[in-house]
Amino acid sequence: MTRKYNDYKILPSILAADFGKILDEVSTVDLPEIDHLHIDVMDGNFVPNLTFGPRIVKSLKKHTRFKLDVHLMIMNAAEMIPAFVDAGADIITIHQEAVTHLHRSINDIKKYGIKAGVTLNPATSLENIRLILNEVDLVLILSVNPGFGGQKFIPWSVNKIAHLKRLRKEYKADYVIEVDGGINPDIIGKVYEAGARYFVSGSSIFQKTDRKQAIKDLINGIEQKRLKKSTISV
Ligand code: DX5
Ligand code: ZN
Repeated sequence: MTRKYNDYKILPSILAADFGKILDEVSTVDLPEIDHLHIDVMDGNFVPNLTFGPRIVKSLKKHTRFKLDVHLMIMNAAEMIPAFVDAGADIITIHQEAVTHLHRSINDIKKYGIKAGVTLNPATSLENIRLILNEVDLVLILSVNPGFGGQKFIPWSVNKIAHLKRLRKEYKADYVIEVDGGINPDIIGKVYEAGARYFVSGSSIFQKTDRKQAIKDLINGIEQKRLKKSTISV
């Protein structure tokens, strides 16, 4: 499986993996196409579920070669930034809804020399992050309500992504658009077309027996769309 293009990434979300054998699970996605893992940190407060904290992130960093894309679904995200930086996060994404001083927190993350991302729940408008768009490295569009893997992709997330792409042009910004929730081989091409380039995927990878094939199926979903597009434009 060779990767022809490098303008997009698939980021396996370990939320859907078997935590009891997490290093074995992670080794099944250790393929040349994969360079980041997506780590969902949940506090049972901002979202109705609990996952893991900085110590587990630190262990993953120590025992794997992956960069870590840490999605903080916690109420005290601002205070926890140093702990996740120390744990080895390469990207930290915080919820606009969970921090009081978004500008300060984004700049706190960047001060550590890592990538800063901002995210929004599905029903939160992009208007809430307009003023920060020139300062973030990444904007994550949640295409399910956060808290659980295996949910259905909310169809109008595609319009939100397309809008975010237009805003990038309007603001002359250069953030990456990441999408998270319900991504599968059938929807991924449409989401790519709308402008997303980082694709988080939990159950479409870890709920499959053949993880290599699952990742290949996601990549094919994008490539088919790209192929169609280049055929039309000829
Ligand atoms: C949802 C999480 C997602 C989740 C996605 O709260 O932010 O990262 O792991 O899982 P799937 O791909 O199963 O929707
Ligand atoms: Zn996530």
